[in-house]
Amino acid sequence: MLTEVLSAIHALPTPLASLLAAQLKANQAAGTPACLHASQWQALLTATGLDETALSLALLPVAAAFAHTPISHFKVGVIAQAASGTRYFGANFEFPDQPLGASIHAEQSAINHAWLTGETRLLSLTVNASPCGHCRQFINETPEGQGVQILLPQGRYSLAQLLPQAFGPTDLGISQVLMSASSRPLAPIAGDPLLQQAHQAAGASYAPYSGCLAGVALESACGEILCGRSAENAAYNPSLPAMQSALALAHLQGWDLSQIRRAALVETNAATSQRPHAQLALASLCQAKLDYLRLP
Ligand code: THU
Ligand code: ZN
Repeated sequence: MLTEVLSAIHALPTPLASLLAAQLKANQAAGTPACLHASQWQALLTATGLDETALSLALLPVAAAFAHTPISHFKVGVIAQAASGTRYFGANFEFPDQPLGASIHAEQSAINHAWLTGETRLLSLTVNASPCGHCRQFINETPEGQGVQILLPQGRYSLAQLLPQAFGPTDLGISQVLMSASSRPLAPIAGDPLLQQAHQAAGASYAPYSGCLAGVALESACGEILCGRSAENAAYNPSLPAMQSALALAHLQGWDLSQIRRAALVETNAATSQRPHAQLALASLCQAKLDYLRLP
């Protein structure tokens, strides 16, 4: 586990710190170190006597400890509550030597985390700083849309309160939304398993605006593979590219991103391409070259 995360856990009051440390250690052993399952959440409520709101706010320093912020040193932490009851941590991630626009916001990181884990509905986000306009727009693409609850240290708001007169998928005639959109499994391809995984991820990506289905697979130094996929947005700019999606998850899983051994991007032929930016984002973190396949 990241040393910053361990320190944040140990800075919590004792009953919370000891139970949380045991839970996250168990989750790490199971390969999911940055979430709390519904039963674990209930156990924390019982052990601490805190209510939902107080517990969510108390855990924000732990979420923020996942941030990687070589540029701003400003750590944003998010706890996303999915319909399953699992809580997913998210944190901001900045890329050295890259434009500021390449950054992943904590809210995107948490939503991406829940989505890649198979969640189809997001109920609430607890955040240690007020979500920026870009994030409000990103949240608006999720199934509850205007009904998502945003819990901040200063109060609770619905997205409708924070993003009135919203622009969203329906303005562009799109009836699907992020997380619950049905995936378009692509016909399997033969060959390199890393490309195959990226290809599978592309089939589950959310690209109703460009039609450019895109998936990324990363291989760690010890041969572990994980995938990310595109999450487009009606307003285009808060879209999360597949490379960012994969790197955000790898960071939350505790990977040393400088040791990524191989990476693959698969995308379908469309009027957009993620290749140039994906190469730059990857190259800013590690030596791995980007294998690439563009499907007809
Ligand atoms: N940031 C977030 O993660 N979420 C927000 O909504 C506000 C801003 C991050 C982006 C950047 O890494 C840092 O905070 C400074 O803006
Ligand atoms: Zn933001």
